[in-house]
Amino acid sequence: MKTRREFLQSTIVGTAAFCFSRFPSLAASSSEAKIEILLGETQGTIPPNIYGHFTEHLGAVIYDGIWVGPKSKVPNIDGLRRDLVEHMKKIKAPVIRYPGGCFADSYDWRDGIGPTDKRPRRTNFWAFSDQSPAKHRYEPNEFGTDEFARFCKQIGAQPYLAANVRSLPAQEFSRWVEYCNSPAGSTTLADERARAGSPEPYNVRYWGVGNESWGCGGNFTPQEYAVEFRRYTAWVPGYGKPLDFIASGPADHDLSWTKGFFEEVLRKGKEQLNSIYGIGLHHYAWNLSRGKTNDWEKGKGDALQFDVTDWYELLREGQRLEPMIESHWQAMGEFDKDRHVKLVVDEWGPWYRPGSALTPGDLLEQTPTQRDAVFSGLTLDILNRHASQVAMGNCAQLINCLNSLYLAHEDHFVITPVGHVFDLYSGHQGGELVRSVFSAPEVQYDRDGKPATFLGLNGSASIRGKDLLLTVVNPDTKQARETTISLAGASATSATARVLAASHIQACNTFANREAVVPRSAEVTVRSGAITHVFPPASVAAMAIHLV
Ligand code: AHR
Repeated sequence: MKTRREFLQSTIVGTAAFCFSRFPSLAASSSEAKIEILLGETQGTIPPNIYGHFTEHLGAVIYDGIWVGPKSKVPNIDGLRRDLVEHMKKIKAPVIRYPGGCFADSYDWRDGIGPTDKRPRRTNFWAFSDQSPAKHRYEPNEFGTDEFARFCKQIGAQPYLAANVRSLPAQEFSRWVEYCNSPAGSTTLADERARAGSPEPYNVRYWGVGNESWGCGGNFTPQEYAVEFRRYTAWVPGYGKPLDFIASGPADHDLSWTKGFFEEVLRKGKEQLNSIYGIGLHHYAWNLSRGKTNDWEKGKGDALQFDVTDWYELLREGQRLEPMIESHWQAMGEFDKDRHVKLVVDEWGPWYRPGSALTPGDLLEQTPTQRDAVFSGLTLDILNRHASQVAMGNCAQLINCLNSLYLAHEDHFVITPVGHVFDLYSGHQGGELVRSVFSAPEVQYDRDGKPATFLGLNGSASIRGKDLLLTVVNPDTKQARETTISLAGASATSATARVLAASHIQACNTFANREAVVPRSAEVTVRSGAITHVFPPASVAAMAIHLV
């Protein structure tokens, strides 16, 4: 049986990309759904960084996705794909994690600085597919720290750099911080940064100390990793600015990692907690075998060819994130009584078997459908609802990869249904989370001859002054939901909605059909301060409500 760890050493890719199969006919709407928003019960600010992204030197994420080069005929800003930058600005992308992923623990940051024509070519961590272009297998280092910093600056996003703990010494970590953050003219590395165009420091605040250190990031035990974490983070110069260190966390439900890490870190005393801003948590939804196997290869489903049962199975796998957050948070509380350390969900998304890449040969690229939009809406609502525990989320990965917001190849560029969900939800960033109670009949479906259920309607709400944003996901593939939305503590004067629905559950955007799934405005009924609305099947909606 193959696990994710083994996969990282041995995967191959397939090709082909197509969308098909009609939506089941829409049944009449039911009026049994209710959403109650308790305006008096605010639950803390939603950290903007929950809406973060993840980019890795993997397949076509960097080369072809983000970086086309300054001489390219593809519209670009100093080599950065212009359409991508523009849309990321629109959705207010707050933070971007880079350069991996597993790649991070194989990367020497010095390879990616200095004159481009002098940078070395290296074998990429993800070099194992001979169907991929050479640039994806043999890292040309055309894109490195300076290009990434410019990418973030163009967008207005914070950089989050993941350092190499597996194969570089701790001193190199300090030096990378020095390169990024030492004041203009202060050090040799600051001068080198100035020669690359930035005399002023990049002031990188978020630093990941390794990645998946239980696997590709060093194969450590939690105790061994904790010792490395203490060593790598001891006395790193801050140059007068805060540095927030993010520890490499568990995969999924592995509480023994979380507990083992904290136990060992704290052996040196309680003050060690001061050097931990957050601990990572990765959750990929991949097992669509309906309980038949845990094999990493055999358990995966197809991104495009799926039925209604696969739809719910994928969403169920995604919902496992909620108890994961809660159980890790509880475990962390045993060690961190003052709640200094937060969770950083720095990789999340569905992971399907190869075969749906829009550009054949792009490793791990899959074509997101309406199912992934609904999955992403449900996930962002989970993160919102845990705003006091989760400091950051990073969808894996931004472009040409797993749960991508964008697909691109040469001069083709398309926003996927996932990208549209980030647009619909962007207004939650920095809002005050408000308690919302969703009641709707559960969805019933057939799981290989046995009855199964899935939640009927879910979402989250946030408020800013008199403006309330309510996001609602109707995961039911057949049933539209007529819903009464009541506001305890205020009444509505007006409301508008934008809804992402599709003609069929496998609907996706392609280079040839870029607008198969796009958000549309929908009318909302407001009467005597109360709201009713019909949420279409398989949809994600954002409702902006103005209060008296
Ligand atoms: O996102 C792809 C890979 O998944 C990342 O490199 C790694 O951290 C995880 O296993």
